[in-house]
Amino acid sequence: MPRLAIVYLSTQGNTQMMAEAIAKGARERHLEVDVNNFYEWDPKDVVNYDAIAIGSSTFYYTILEPINKFIDELVELGIDEKIGVAFGSYGWSGEAPVKIAEKLRSAGVTVIDPVLRIQYKPNEKDLLECNRLGKDLAEKVKEKMKKE
Ligand SMILES: Cc1cc2nc3c(=O)[nH]c(=O)nc-3n(C[C@H](O)[C@H](O)[C@H](O)COP(=O)(O)O)c2cc1C
Repeated sequence: MPRLAIVYLSTQGNTQMMAEAIAKGARERHLEVDVNNFYEWDPKDVVNYDAIAIGSSTFYYTILEPINKFIDELVELGIDEKIGVAFGSYGWSGEAPVKIAEKLRSAGVTVIDPVLRIQYKPNEKDLLECNRLGKDLAEKVKEKMKKE
């Protein structure tokens, strides 16, 4: 079974809700999924997964340094040729998911659309959108593995 690592930074649980809804969608499409706060992940483990989803809420118009550094460590270890998604809850400007997508793409990751941003706490409809993204990601990963 293809494996997906979901890594997030969430201060009040909003991005965490998105992460768990993405996980649910991917599991429904038969991916093996591990979802955890970034400080519980070791980057060395994350790079062993077939796909990665990274989420962060936005602070001070950008991405907080600890998760930024975590992504840099992943890039250094090598994540090119993986499939990924970027997501996050935000309040008014929402730069973090865009920055995550940019960083992943420049490291060679195929980041699938949409880069998912939800304002504050996700509602039912928002969670369905996260679910959908998890399913789409799972389909893309399976397609890629079939070709290899
Ligand atoms: C101190 C502080 C700074 C923030 N700065 C921004 C910001 O620059 N842009 C933005 O879109 N949201 C900003 N927010 C809002 C958070 O991104 C938003 O509350 C988000 O839902 C938090 O999600 P989380 O629970 O996953 O951390 C800020 C919130 C706080 C508390």
